[in-house]
Amino acid sequence: MERPELEKAVAAIRWAHRIDLGQGVVTPGLWDTPEVLARLRLPRDLRGQTVLDVGCWDGFYSFEAERRGARRVLATDSFTWQRKSWGSKEGFELARRALESRVEDLDIDVLDLAPERIGVFDVVLFLGVLYHMKHPMLALERVASVTGRLLVVETVIDLLYLPREALAFYPGTELERDDSNWFGPTPSATEAMLRSAGFARVERVWPSSPRLLLWRGMSLIGTKSTKRAVFHAYK
Ligand SMILES: C[S@@+](CC[C@H](N)C(=O)[O-])C[C@H]1O[C@@H](n2cnc3c(N)ncnc32)[C@H](O)[C@@H]1O
Repeated sequence: MERPELEKAVAAIRWAHRIDLGQGVVTPGLWDTPEVLARLRLPRDLRGQTVLDVGCWDGFYSFEAERRGARRVLATDSFTWQRKSWGSKEGFELARRALESRVEDLDIDVLDLAPERIGVFDVVLFLGVLYHMKHPMLALERVASVTGRLLVVETVIDLLYLPREALAFYPGTELERDDSNWFGPTPSATEAMLRSAGFARVERVWPSSPRLLLWRGMSLIGTKSTKRAVFHAYK
């Protein structure tokens, strides 16, 4: 695709992800995806690995997994791809074409994930999706069923002042004026839920120190800003 045509196509889409499509064209995503990527501590080398990206939206992390050498990447979504939010699947499709990517796609709800339907993947990305789950434990069990080795979870966390496992419930549009947000777990609840879903070892990889986590929580009390964390869970 020539640059003027690409720029025109990019401008016609509402983007969540900032994706470098080459030729100096970067999609104007709402979120600073390259900055979030640095927090995920994804393996630099994914050669020979299979990767599943659950709730991928525009697919930035799927394309990154492919760039890091994954032999197969399956990008899945449902809610946004079915236009139930302000986004669509158009960004994913345009980026895949522009990048000449071989990332596969499947419209499937998180609760329908099962080894019989999609197989099992070495690495699974579950980024920004857990707090959208009305049934978070069930969702983690479905995701665990298709994870072979490593699950990377990026999520809203809440109630940081509570030294125990608990989930904040967001009625209606309480969290970020978005009625698709349901629960924000404490960091220890996230870890415990992942263990209950069948993961043998769970680590919080961002923020990296307990002090930093507390500091982030304290500094945000009284604001509407959301707190987030990243976990690695191993089978
Ligand atoms: C906050 S966005 C995160 C997008 C991307 N993973 C990221 O981290 O930038 C949440 C994504 O989860 C998807 N999603 C929400 N509920 C879902 C469901 N029940 N099944 C599949 N995808 C879902 C949405 O469509 C959306 O793309």
